[in-house]
Amino acid sequence: MVEGVIALDGRDEILWLNERARAMFRVDDQRGRGRRVLEVIRNTDLHAVVAEARERQADVPARRELRLGEREERIVEVNALPLRLPGGETGVVAVLHDVSELRRLEQVRTEFVANVSHELRTPLTAIQGYVETLLGGAIAEPENAQRFLEIVLRHTERLGRLLGDLADLSNIELGKLALRLAETKLAPIVESVLEITWPRAESGRVALEAHVPDALPPVYADHDRVAQILINLVDNAVKYTPPGGRVSVSAAVVAGPAVEVSVRDSGVGISSADLPRVTERFYRVDKARSRELGGTGLGLAIVKHLVAAHGGNLQLESELGRGTLVRFTLPVATRT
Ligand SMILES: Nc1ncnc2c1ncn2[C@@H]1O[C@H](COP(=O)(O)OP(=O)(O)OP(=O)(O)O)[C@@H](O)[C@H]1O
Ligand SMILES: [Mg+2]
Repeated sequence: MVEGVIALDGRDEILWLNERARAMFRVDDQRGRGRRVLEVIRNTDLHAVVAEARERQADVPARRELRLGEREERIVEVNALPLRLPGGETGVVAVLHDVSELRRLEQVRTEFVANVSHELRTPLTAIQGYVETLLGGAIAEPENAQRFLEIVLRHTERLGRLLGDLADLSNIELGKLALRLAETKLAPIVESVLEITWPRAESGRVALEAHVPDALPPVYADHDRVAQILINLVDNAVKYTPPGGRVSVSAAVVAGPAVEVSVRDSGVGISSADLPRVTERFYRVDKARSRELGGTGLGLAIVKHLVAAHGGNLQLESELGRGTLVRFTLPVATRT
């Protein structure tokens, strides 16, 4: 039974405590039955809801949420009803339902909506501000007008990117992402990704190089999605590497058989506290800096999902001030 059940008699003595309820309150087998609930389970909220239920006449349960456990908190919803016992005694039966996961998901959703609105508001505010300035007269000053319109354009591009990333993420999460899996060669993808990211690397004075062996077997993957994964990783590596640094992309066969692609940089690195969180949606180590660089913190969340959708594995290693290594695997295409 997934629900915990506790039945008490008129003096709060335990008539019945099922295994699930025992587990929730960490009550071992020997204790329990026949003893007063107060001695066995020390939870004031539980006693309060039991007392409340005893007062109830109708079939409307007394309801309360309990917080259990110290380190790993569980949230348990209790519904308690009076229990008519022979001899005119009134006991209580309480049903306990673990709602921790539900509450966690609600929290994730609330945060997600808050994050999305915030990210949309930033460029919108800028666009509105510059358009108002233009309408207020700046449009007559050609030099300013040109500059302001360029800023407006940049922010609309940012909005477009954000919406594109959000659409990608929700499609992946809804399972609507249809991968076009085929035998795919990695070398040309790496080459095209380097071509796209090269201007940014050059203007940041970051050396960008690739080592993909000629003999590398093709992978079984969606060409465009692999490019998307690599663009995100190389873009991050270049963005978070100061001038004079180096970014290198390489690939090799590993057990599986799979191809492992590595993107290594000599950049700012990520602390061990932040590292497990960077693949979460909107998580950025330095929000202000990332936003300045045009980021929304969705890149690695998308990468993680795309790699998983291919049946691959994503691994991040990093050392603050020394650099970051991101590796992912893709299955080798087996000839049929
Ligand atoms: N190679 C890296 N070196 C140092 N920090 C990194 C690296 N890659 C990612 N990060 C950190 O992880 C965060 C999340 O990365 P992610 O790619 O998801 O977001 P972003 O690059 O900030 O924005 P977006 O990818 O949406 O443009 C970044 O903000 C950055 O703090
Ligand atoms: Mg990124």
